[in-house]
Amino acid sequence: MHIAALHQPSQVQLNQQGNLKHFLTIEGLSKESLTKILDTAQSFLDENNNLINRPLLEGLTVMNLFFENSTRTRTTFEAAAKRLSANVLNIDIARSSTSKGETLRDTLWNLEAMAADIFVVRHSSSGAAHFIAKDVCPNVAIINAGDGRHAHPTQAMLDMLTIRRETKKPFEQLSVAIIGDIKHSRVARSNVAALQTLGCKDIRVIAPNTLLPVGFNEYGEHVRLFNQMNGGVTDCDVIIALRIQNERIDSPALASQSEFYKMYGLNKERLALAKPDCIVMHPGPMNRGVEIDSSVADGDQSVILKQVTNGIAVRMAVLALAMQGQLQEQGLIEAISL
Ligand code: CP
Repeated sequence: MHIAALHQPSQVQLNQQGNLKHFLTIEGLSKESLTKILDTAQSFLDENNNLINRPLLEGLTVMNLFFENSTRTRTTFEAAAKRLSANVLNIDIARSSTSKGETLRDTLWNLEAMAADIFVVRHSSSGAAHFIAKDVCPNVAIINAGDGRHAHPTQAMLDMLTIRRETKKPFEQLSVAIIGDIKHSRVARSNVAALQTLGCKDIRVIAPNTLLPVGFNEYGEHVRLFNQMNGGVTDCDVIIALRIQNERIDSPALASQSEFYKMYGLNKERLALAKPDCIVMHPGPMNRGVEIDSSVADGDQSVILKQVTNGIAVRMAVLALAMQGQLQEQGLIEAISL
């Protein structure tokens, strides 16, 4: 599927009552839907930020299907599913029969026949999760764990939860800067969409032209472009640094990593231009000394590891809500009570 088609609001992820039954993309979801995910995630955290287990998915089976590498997303989905008392199977794609020529469709139908209720899917092709939800396994709740350059909706929601909890300000009052490789980043795309939907009025994208998508204005309202760090980060409440996605770059986009650090690396001097209580975020994996200096990554304003913990709460919320939406569609609404 062409990436432009994926920008259209998708109804595939909603059931007849307008609730999530898959979670594929932020686009097309209302402010109320995103707020419901945040509030549900919040309900899995106590006042000391400890995670609260709830056996909402007891007897149900979550399968993690990661066709691309992952540290945070795969592990936090597994942790989230276990905290909801689901059975969790991590499918070892490298050892699966895909290497013998089995199609994605056949692999998924076989896994569905093993009584899968939820597939968590990461794939290098933009649109893979959408394709599975629409055309292959519509009765399994499909959660997009990152598809190509297109979307990483649970990362966006854990970022929004982190912003809400750490700034304690309404999204309407925040200035948020996203720095780095916007062109190849599914995180940037999903974060911009989530910020816009939640009401943020000042979204700044800071990047060299070589790391911006062609037709940058596709990002829509309240998004401003900066080619220089200094103007871009001034008076910000939130800075999100992104890594260079070398695995998705097919021609040189940068003179060198050291040149990028010189122009766009987030160091203490540049952070000092933002508001004094500005928080620093990064989805990981980080390349220290390229997009972010260690003094900032490990400094007092960094909430990077809190993002990871919040990721478990958000993934618990998304798993429970999507499963609830699937069961609602199948007339079994009483099965999960949130
Ligand atoms: N942020 C993120 O998606 O990290 P992983 O690739 O480690 O899952």
